[in-house]
Amino acid sequence: MNFDGRVAVVTGAGGGLGRTYALELARRGARVVVNDLGSTVDGSGASHSAADMVVGEITDAGGEAVANYDSVATEEGGAAIIQAALDAFGTVDIVINNAGILRDRSFANMTMDEVDAVLDVHLKGAFHVTLPAWKVMKEKGYGRLVFASSAAGLFGNFGQSNYGAAKMGLVGLSNVLAVEGAKYGIMSNAVAPIARTRMTEDILGPFAELVAPEKVTPLVVYLCSEACQTTHGIFTVGGGRYARVFIGTNHGWFSGPDGVPSVEEVSDHLDEITDLSDYIVPSNVNEETALFASMLAG
Ligand code: NAI
Repeated sequence: MNFDGRVAVVTGAGGGLGRTYALELARRGARVVVNDLGSTVDGSGASHSAADMVVGEITDAGGEAVANYDSVATEEGGAAIIQAALDAFGTVDIVINNAGILRDRSFANMTMDEVDAVLDVHLKGAFHVTLPAWKVMKEKGYGRLVFASSAAGLFGNFGQSNYGAAKMGLVGLSNVLAVEGAKYGIMSNAVAPIARTRMTEDILGPFAELVAPEKVTPLVVYLCSEACQTTHGIFTVGGGRYARVFIGTNHGWFSGPDGVPSVEEVSDHLDEITDLSDYIVPSNVNEETALFASMLAG
């Protein structure tokens, strides 16, 4: 699989997972914008060295890349990141929204500053970068988008209400872009990685040895490829496991077309309401509505 002629933007590519995505895309012929603010894990500080180092690795290996140091957390930053791709390489085909920070705290002690900081980088950051790229992709009728989500949002994790909300927000953004992008050849997917990076080195314990970031890379690079016709997907990937996460809805309990059931009736049918033996995985709102409409029609 090769990426000759393709231009990729990888945010937060100065280290950790983003670096591995940038290296592998470049190794396979993509021209890459290596974006990284060069901040600490909590988002403070800035430095050019992280992005420069990865660009050096790519060019030393014979690949093509440019560094960009803008923050995804502002609209101007996002615009400048995509402009860097247009200036250096004339287009953009692939965006991996990977930049991220942590401000973990139990909900009782969470401050709105910590909420804003995390939403600004992860969730609004993805809008800042993807909006200007979308215009180019829509025009050319081709695009591949990957959003870095997390099990913390998909399934919940103590102390990460800000991060979990942002990461689940990215799934919503990816799903809508999959629906809107279908007719323009734009595929959009979300990935929840598990990997040993500076972000996780303190929490993985002995497990760290088994979850090299390079084990996440093949799936993410596949989702960026021309071969990938998968869209609207959510994947969990780490330590050699590659799997799908999905949002489905069961058949549920239908109370009938007329009247309103009592609270007691709802309580009496809770087993049916929560039963998982029969479900669908809608790929857009209409597919859920069709299930509901078929019940109403009898
Ligand atoms: P990392 O800390 O090694 O990489 C994140 C990079 O983003 C850093 O190089 C940092 O400088 C950059 N960055 C931070 N704020 C930025 C901004 N405003 N603008 C541009 N760049 C910025 O962490 P890691 O583990 O590689 O994380 C990559 C992504 O994967 C993140 O979105 C993270 O939330 C997500 N993730 C990682 C998991 C893991 O197990 N490592 C688990 C679940 C999700």
